[in-house]
Amino acid sequence: MEYTSPNESQTKSIGRQLATMISPGSIITLSGDLGAGKTTFTKGFAEGLGVKETITSPTFSLMNVYPVHEHPEIDTFVHIDTYRLEHEKELIGIGVEDYLAADKTVVIIEWPEKIAGMLKKYEGVIEVEMKNGESNEERVIEVNGIS
Ligand SMILES: Nc1ncnc2c1ncn2[C@@H]1O[C@H](COP(=O)(O)OP(=O)(O)OP(=O)(O)O)[C@@H](O)[C@H]1O
Ligand SMILES: [Mg+2]
Repeated sequence: MEYTSPNESQTKSIGRQLATMISPGSIITLSGDLGAGKTTFTKGFAEGLGVKETITSPTFSLMNVYPVHEHPEIDTFVHIDTYRLEHEKELIGIGVEDYLAADKTVVIIEWPEKIAGMLKKYEGVIEVEMKNGESNEERVIEVNGIS
């Protein structure tokens, strides 16, 4: 699927929409340059799942874990940002593998390229790619791996 987003709020809305289409245990990767809108998309996605807390970028924490409310199948949302990660081991050390493909859990990963080795172990990863469009604020959002 491919979407064109004209602005930030539309990117959030696409994230919200995707949240209604995924199953528990899903892993979603978000690729795209700095400022492409990965975190913006994640905010909408979390809202769509039913996360009540404000999503902030896990730039230094690497991983933020949020409870999901009022969802029939999902109770945990995990947001990972590997931008400042130096080695996969750091993520393993903070327990990331307990969440990947876990029951009732959905994980979103910004900068997945850094942990390609770890992600190889998982099937059915949904890959979202965000690119600049034709204007300053336009983004093209490609979603692969969802039916
Ligand atoms: N169509 C759009 N979709 C999303 N963000 C947009 C759009 N147009 C402009 N923006 C702006 O681009 C920026 C996107 O920031 P965001 O933090 O979501 O990017 P990111 O991909 O997570 O960056 P980083 O790699 O630094 O984590 C915001 O300042 C937002 O206002
Ligand atoms: Mg970000």
